[in-house]
Amino acid sequence: MKTKFEKNILCIGAGYVGGPTMAMIAYKCPQYRVTVVDISHKRIAEWNSDKLPVYEPGLDEIVKSVKGKNLFFSTEIEKGVKDSDIIFVSVNTPTKSFGVGAGMAADLQYWEKTARQILQSAESPKIIVEKSTLPVKTALAMERILTSNNSRIHFEVLSNPEFLAEGTAIQDLENPDRVLIGSNQTENGLKARDVLVEIYKNWVPSDRIITSDIWSSELSKLVANAFLSQRISSINSISALCEKTDADITTVARAVGFDSRIGNKYLNASVGFGGSCFNKDILNLVYLCRHYGLYEVADYWEGVVKINEYQMGRFVLNMLTSMFNTLTGKKISLFGFAFKANTGDTRESPAIFIAKRLVEEKAELVITDPEALQNARIDLKNIDGKVSFIEDPYDAAAGCHAIALVTEWDLYKNLDFEKIYRSMIKPAFIFDGRNILDHNRLFEIGFNIYPIGKPALTHFE
Ligand code: NAD
Ligand code: UGA
Repeated sequence: MKTKFEKNILCIGAGYVGGPTMAMIAYKCPQYRVTVVDISHKRIAEWNSDKLPVYEPGLDEIVKSVKGKNLFFSTEIEKGVKDSDIIFVSVNTPTKSFGVGAGMAADLQYWEKTARQILQSAESPKIIVEKSTLPVKTALAMERILTSNNSRIHFEVLSNPEFLAEGTAIQDLENPDRVLIGSNQTENGLKARDVLVEIYKNWVPSDRIITSDIWSSELSKLVANAFLSQRISSINSISALCEKTDADITTVARAVGFDSRIGNKYLNASVGFGGSCFNKDILNLVYLCRHYGLYEVADYWEGVVKINEYQMGRFVLNMLTSMFNTLTGKKISLFGFAFKANTGDTRESPAIFIAKRLVEEKAELVITDPEALQNARIDLKNIDGKVSFIEDPYDAAAGCHAIALVTEWDLYKNLDFEKIYRSMIKPAFIFDGRNILDHNRLFEIGFNIYPIGKPALTHFE
């Protein structure tokens, strides 16, 4: 294909990672043509519309500035493969739900399909970049598929895991802590690595671009997510102790985080972590360790997931016991359904677990969230209970016995809680699963307040 562009980049998978990462490359590198393809016609149509399928602060502006110039969204995967020099693969890699490794190992069917598709359509050498998070040695498997029919075309597979967090994806992509590129340590491998380094060097300082062998790169991604989620489970486990002993988790986290060896980030006690990746990536690591007979190591990391489940369960149990041991027929408003603020993503959101448990207790739910109601409706479509979805938090709280704050949206901090209190059934309860509200003030208004890892403030004797 004749083109005025220096490189033709393709990304297979137009999801939360593929869309924003490719938008950033196109934005920073007008000299490259970037195409994002997906099997989902609906997703591609959304990327081509004004209402993008992913809510991410700053994304709209960037996409708008490059779409149709050097960023294109399409369903023509075959053509995309033919026309490209570099192919990023950013398809989903969920936990396997069947057969060997069910509930733990990665389901690699989408990944393998993509490899076969590339093999079928390619007519010239390609660099394949593994962007999805994959268990160690997947790049090797991909290489095997790509060389399986003695194709004369050379494919060089690189690992380039993505570290962005949702809600801050644009910041993270524009100013990453590091970019990691794993390659074969062969002449061809190192050459391909340098091509990818050149792309990132358009905006990322060289000292933040780390290179390694492929397996170390794949493993580093799983380990980074394991370490991050371990911090949350660590602080959440201590929040349970604080609640029993009247210590304050915010004070403890602050005091601990001041130690520069520990650091003060990522120590917010919460209702539990969610998101599409933490659970699946730790479970992947656990599976890998068991596979290699490292049972103690596997059990250690599995503990992170177990504490997370314990924390979500504890939150619901606390609601039940505080509200006189019955939730039957009580109306509870969930403030927030996204797995964190500034995203509409609800995958593995603690809100799903909490909603299901509350409905099992026969509570009636009113769910509110500024961005995630559409996903919440899908997540709860088969739930056997009374659930409604209301965008306005005032309307959502009216007539409720309790509010359970699950997502730390800024807007919840500045609501008129006197008005909310007046509209609720008394005694009125707030369970602040994120510790973002002004608890003393709410207590003065008349609420009974149950934060995470702090003494409850109640008007009961
Ligand atoms: P996603 O589900 O949002 O997007 C994946 C897309 O791939 C979907 O649109 C799907 O239709 C498409 N797809 C699947 N098979 C395909 C095929 N054969 N051909 C073309 N398209 C296909 O997933 P995501 O959140 O973008 O995650 C992608 C990968 O990135 C995962 O491995 C994930 O672990 C990793 N990751 C995610 C995040 C995050 O914040 N979401 C961050 C870092 C890494
Ligand atoms: C996480 C990592 O932060 C990214 O580096 C990684 O690329 C990504 O997973 C991935 O591989 O998918 P993400 O899940 O988007 O990003 O969001 P986080 O900000 O890490 O939050 C994860 C969960 O932990 C959320 O539910 C959040 O509310 C919770 N959390 C986070 C806490 O409960 N306490 C904290 O202090 C921080």
